[in-house]
Amino acid sequence: MVPLTKSLVVGAALSIVLAAINGAAPAQDKETVLKNRQATMKEQGSDLQNIKSYLDGKAELEKAKSSALNLTQTTKKIPELFPPGTAGRSPDGDYEAKPEIWIDWNKFLDAQKTAAAKADTLLVAVNSGDKTKIEPAFSDLGKNGCGGCHTTFREKIEK
Ligand code: HEC
Repeated sequence: MVPLTKSLVVGAALSIVLAAINGAAPAQDKETVLKNRQATMKEQGSDLQNIKSYLDGKAELEKAKSSALNLTQTTKKIPELFPPGTAGRSPDGDYEAKPEIWIDWNKFLDAQKTAAAKADTLLVAVNSGDKTKIEPAFSDLGKNGCGGCHTTFREKIEK
């Protein structure tokens, strides 16, 4: 019996390796990817909101600063949130990552780098505490950074 058991184990291990080589992420892994992706995107949304609250006089500068710092980190992390084979809708299904992301990966990376650079600019502005500097940097990141990618690579799911 031992040799048989052993060959089953080896067989199972081998099929996992082959699945990885084929780039076909096991279903459960894809679920995890989609979950992390959505969580990070939502985190970016609330970080941006915190900065807006500061502009509106409804939050402390310290909160805006830590959110801006966080945005410089999350925007840089975006490429690893989109491994190949993970097109599809986020867990509660309001948005979908379009297949164009992987068809035109370099264009996607350009959109990500643009957003990351705008987040860096926003951090400098927020650290100054000067609202006349923060406002334009905030709009630029939201509209052209986040929005620039969403317009091309994100699909709203109609319900
Ligand atoms: C390079 C592309 C790209 C950039 C840059 C980007 N996003 Fe996204 N975002 C996506 C894609 C694709 C989706 C759809 C997948 C999903 O919803 O998980 C998405 C989804 C979202 C969602 C919806 C999450 C959900 O499913 O409920 C929010 C909120 C969001 N992004 C916020 C932001 C904010 C804020 C920024 C800027 C600080 C940003 N994103 C930058 C590509 C991007």
